[in-house]
Amino acid sequence: MGKLWGGRFRKETDRWVRAFGDSLSFDFRLWPYELRASEAHARMLVQVGVLSATEGDTILKGIQKIRREFMEGKVEPTGEEDIHSLIETLLVKWAGEVGKKLHTGRSRNDQVATDLRLYLRDETLSVRELLFELRLVLVDLAAQHCETLMPGFTHLQPAQPVSFAHHLLAYYEMFTRDDQRFQDCLHRINVLPLGAGALAGTTFVLNREAAAAELGFGSVTQNSMDAVSDRDFVVEFCAAASMTMVHLSRFCEELILWSTPQFGFIELDDAYTTGSSMMPQKKNPDVAELCRGKTGRVIGNLTAMLAVLKGLPLTYNKDIQEDKPLLFDTVDSLKRCLDVFTSMVLTITVNRDSMSAAATQGLLNATDLAEYLVRKGLPFREAHGVVGEIVFYCLEHGKRLEELDLEEYHRFSSIIEEDVFRAVALQEALKARQILGGPAPETVQRRIETILKDFSKTD
Ligand code: ARG
Repeated sequence: MGKLWGGRFRKETDRWVRAFGDSLSFDFRLWPYELRASEAHARMLVQVGVLSATEGDTILKGIQKIRREFMEGKVEPTGEEDIHSLIETLLVKWAGEVGKKLHTGRSRNDQVATDLRLYLRDETLSVRELLFELRLVLVDLAAQHCETLMPGFTHLQPAQPVSFAHHLLAYYEMFTRDDQRFQDCLHRINVLPLGAGALAGTTFVLNREAAAAELGFGSVTQNSMDAVSDRDFVVEFCAAASMTMVHLSRFCEELILWSTPQFGFIELDDAYTTGSSMMPQKKNPDVAELCRGKTGRVIGNLTAMLAVLKGLPLTYNKDIQEDKPLLFDTVDSLKRCLDVFTSMVLTITVNRDSMSAAATQGLLNATDLAEYLVRKGLPFREAHGVVGEIVFYCLEHGKRLEELDLEEYHRFSSIIEEDVFRAVALQEALKARQILGGPAPETVQRRIETILKDFSKTD
């Protein structure tokens, strides 16, 4: 059929301009949504008497045929400007002249907004499923490591004793917030723009609510101008995706660090690493590095999307077409990263001994000793000073706090007694952190139970 808008022109569009402006190569993936939205539109037109029941029937049957063609892979993404024109052409091919009536009361401006929202609703749900898998894997792994001692860091310097479970569950919390963000995005995605037309609706009194119900939208847009120019839901999704990727990236950074011989906390499975063409001994954490790298790309898509929108006058402008490569790339990158990352975590080998051994380095129990002194009656600030002196002594003599004897302790404070050894024993120091949200094994176990209970009642 060619172009949808040739009448007022006396010259063909320059073919470079066509190639420059066409979006079919990237919006082709919207075909299932374009078909569904077209069905809903056809039914609306029948309902208000713009199309007769027979005409509606012929169009709906035509759409069925087109769907089959797409599903059988018989439709090529060529020859038309975008997915909307392609499907309209196919409709005329399958349904005949009546196919030309389907465009009554609609514009590609409200169509593309509708398709994109349907698409993003599906993708948001699958991102939520992937996040659920990842959260489950983290909780499972954590449940095996509540007692696995590990150094906790600040400034990447050894700080205080934690457990591997507690560290893992920190990421569980991040991914849970991410999931909440996507859930929240759905509220703004799931609004029907169809009926907004090009920008000012239509003179036909379409039943937008009925179309919304048919397409599973929770509500309909309330301003036709906003409806065709709004891409906030794309920005929000890109922002939620960026946040999730930042969390993944931080986790990747830790896995990379932990898998070095210097740390040796974990070993990545061979299947998730690569070798070097020159250095025979190498095992490189490519998957983790790529997830970290793709984070830059997803953040870039968010800023690009904001930049595309920032100077646009109302309503639709062709600039908005740039939303799709950015959004699709964000969706694809996020889903692939979540997927591969979860499998990678599932296959790591945890080296408990290296973790516990690392916890004996760096005087992680210094704060515990200070709190011990506080319990014996010293104000914290003074206790901090005393322990600082003891730490200096330890560093000079190459000793750990648990290796000092009572005589050595007494050089710094006479209130230290035999029970100090219990206070500075690392496992005890971990156990003592029973505060809500803390790393004590019992506390973490309780947190895991709550999480599992929440899982069983998630929506
Ligand atoms: N391909 C266009 C897009 O993706 C569809 C809307 C085009 N509307 C228009 N009036 N040119 O944004």
